[in-house]
Amino acid sequence: MADVNHSLDDGLPTGGPANAASAWIELEGLAEGLLPSLRNLFESDATRGTRLSIDCADLWIDLSRQHLTNEVLGHLHDLAHQRRVSDTLTKVLHGDTVNGSEDRAAIHGALRTRNREPSKPDVKAAFATFDQMAELATSIRAGTAMGATGHRITALVQLGIGGSHLGPALAVDALRHLVHPDLAIRFSPGVDADDLDEALLGLDPTSTLVVACSKSFTTIETLTALDGAIAWLATGVGDRAIDHVLAVTAAPDRARDRGIHENHTFEIPIAVGGRFSVGSAVGLPVMVAIGVEAFDELLAGMSTMDTLSADLPVEENAAVLLALVDVWNHCHLGRGSVAVVPYAHRLRLFIPWLQQLSMESLGKRVCHDGSDPETATGAVIWGATGTDAQHAFFQLLHQGTEVVPVDLIGVARPATDDPRARAASDLLITNLAAQADAMAFGRTADELRADGVDEELVAHRTIPGDRPSTGILLGELTPSTLGQLMALHENRTVATAALLGINPFDQWGVELGKQIAGDLADRSAPESELLRRARSLRED
Ligand code: F6P
Repeated sequence: MADVNHSLDDGLPTGGPANAASAWIELEGLAEGLLPSLRNLFESDATRGTRLSIDCADLWIDLSRQHLTNEVLGHLHDLAHQRRVSDTLTKVLHGDTVNGSEDRAAIHGALRTRNREPSKPDVKAAFATFDQMAELATSIRAGTAMGATGHRITALVQLGIGGSHLGPALAVDALRHLVHPDLAIRFSPGVDADDLDEALLGLDPTSTLVVACSKSFTTIETLTALDGAIAWLATGVGDRAIDHVLAVTAAPDRARDRGIHENHTFEIPIAVGGRFSVGSAVGLPVMVAIGVEAFDELLAGMSTMDTLSADLPVEENAAVLLALVDVWNHCHLGRGSVAVVPYAHRLRLFIPWLQQLSMESLGKRVCHDGSDPETATGAVIWGATGTDAQHAFFQLLHQGTEVVPVDLIGVARPATDDPRARAASDLLITNLAAQADAMAFGRTADELRADGVDEELVAHRTIPGDRPSTGILLGELTPSTLGQLMALHENRTVATAALLGINPFDQWGVELGKQIAGDLADRSAPESELLRRARSLRED
């Protein structure tokens, strides 16, 4: 490892801008210089591929195709120490107050530890809610849960948006091979009536439960969808419709005000952030879908990753290393977005889940102490599944003027032994590997000429390469490995916030839009020309 400045602790507050750390200044200097290309880095070190990849629980992370020299890596390690990233991850895991602007803890990590004797009352309450969830899930899966008219419950539709939707929807979709064959588990995140109609299509109100999942129980989209769902339930069970409604919320009084029975209400602690909430009662549809044991495996996978993220030294800590690479790419090398490309259809919902997790956590403009971060903060997260993405935006990734770091996520073994699935799985992984190499190493003009390409085409066909990517490999997609992957990214996000001195757990920026929408909806604010025109076009 190159000899780097090991002044590990500048003794400066970590709630302010990152440029207070000496390592940050060193990195700025390196970023202004000329970095060796990925092709050069691999040619000069035959061990790079193994030296810069790490095992992390059941995942394997490959950072070798990132612009990391020994010197850069050394200063990044120092930065993590100087910004006390591990302290933050440990505080989260122990449920300490880490959300300063709302004076709250973030106890999602505490909820999934295996410590069934928690000290904090809200964690204790959450464990009691898990027991309440398990009782319902077990009865539905056993066929003993009956609706108001005596029909067996065979469907559950969760209404919710953002963190009240994306995590559970991802888990049920990714683990569909484990979903009870007699149950329909659906989700409707939006206020659009078409969205709810699609979720309810083909279901029978007499055998369907509707979950109104809203931490605040004030989200207009969810409450509007609930009104529609209750009207639909009433077509089958009449005035007993409310008996088919469950609530998952941190505001049980509001659920009660909507007539939802107290014993149909599953409470979420206020200290569980929405985008971190799949391991709370928000995950009720997941537990119903895959069963209590498999849901526990999901939580155990998350907990395993939490412990590794809090305890491992920086050099072996996947969550912290991924965060350091994100900061290096975005804050120092000016790469403003990250493309996320899971080469697995079952991980297609990983992208929107990560978009909320990362951009709602890191899309901030001040540090904990209200000061200017004096650097870029949240990167734009976008993507699509591979190989579809290869036929959509990989042209830009290979030859565009923007250098976009890409996260390539692969699953080595399919969920079934079906020979067709195995063949497809090999094709997916082969394409993932090929794209990583093509982006990293490209094809030079001389190589094209040597291949006999006509001179007038050489410029058009030259692939510059030197495009960074990270490989993330799962052996197979199980409740445990999905939990590990999700927690890895939660911890990557929290670690990035710690590096930058920002609060990942609040989201003040979304409030103004909601308020204006409410004022426009009740006509207490002057309508814009756009709104006036839209309304005029809708006049019957
Ligand atoms: O997008 C803002 C937000 O508050 C998210 O943080 C949250 O996950 C979502 O809206 C839904 O909020 P609730 O669960 O309170 O309905």
